[in-house]
Amino acid sequence: MTEVIIVRDEDEAGGIYARCVGDLIARRPDCVLGLATGSSPLAAYRALAALVRERGLDVSRVRGFALDEYVGLDPGHPQSYRSTIDRTVVRPLGLDPALVHVPDGDPAGVRDAGRRYDEAIGRAGGVDVQILGVGTDGHIGFNEPGSSLGSGTRLKTLAERTRIDNARFFDGDVDRVPTHCITQGIGTILRARHLVLLAFGEGKAEAVAESVEGGVSSFCPASALQLHPHATVIVDEAAASRLRNRDYYRYAYAHKPAWQGI
Ligand code: GLP
Repeated sequence: MTEVIIVRDEDEAGGIYARCVGDLIARRPDCVLGLATGSSPLAAYRALAALVRERGLDVSRVRGFALDEYVGLDPGHPQSYRSTIDRTVVRPLGLDPALVHVPDGDPAGVRDAGRRYDEAIGRAGGVDVQILGVGTDGHIGFNEPGSSLGSGTRLKTLAERTRIDNARFFDGDVDRVPTHCITQGIGTILRARHLVLLAFGEGKAEAVAESVEGGVSSFCPASALQLHPHATVIVDEAAASRLRNRDYYRYAYAHKPAWQGI
């Protein structure tokens, strides 16, 4: 079963993620983190950065792979996912930028970039913990509804809904949001050893309910988490509001032995 943890707010969710990843870094200083952009993981990155400082963890060998990148946006553009990951993860945590990878959104190499990226993840030994947000239409990474559940990293066309959702990062101008992206596939994401999906607010309630309690379907890419042996979904009350089984999730988490972690 996908574990669902209902929390008060993003900071509590961030603390849970930070403890999980902090313990991983302490155990395995060259672990591989799967990184995501968007607003949902921000509190988690802040909590992890604070914990790294507090526990004096050595992060010099931690490796990272981001989920996705816009195609045709200069990597130095403030809204490129390369810049976003540098700003929200690499610098606050003090990671070695050379060890943190983002798919190559250069249109010139895009035909081959996906295969190369999946091979690089494979050579690194796979992702240990993949953090995920979810789009209002149930997308993970940039795998829009209809994406093959077995897909590898590849070029995708962004849905109009996603471009509208992301226009806020481009001064509200949807025409400036790129039309294409390169994203880890659902098959790629499912190969990570632990998936942690974070979702907050009423706007995500439908997508969360579909993902966790709906049928597994390429029309809700996040429902692929149901196929994963170790998936954790951390949501606030608003994002949990359409889950039918939420009393059970609360009960199960309250009775979970602390040594199990997440
Ligand atoms: C973008 C990203 C996704 C992210 C989603 C939700 O489309 N490619 O990885 O999960 O936005 O974003 P937010 O967390 O800001 O709601």
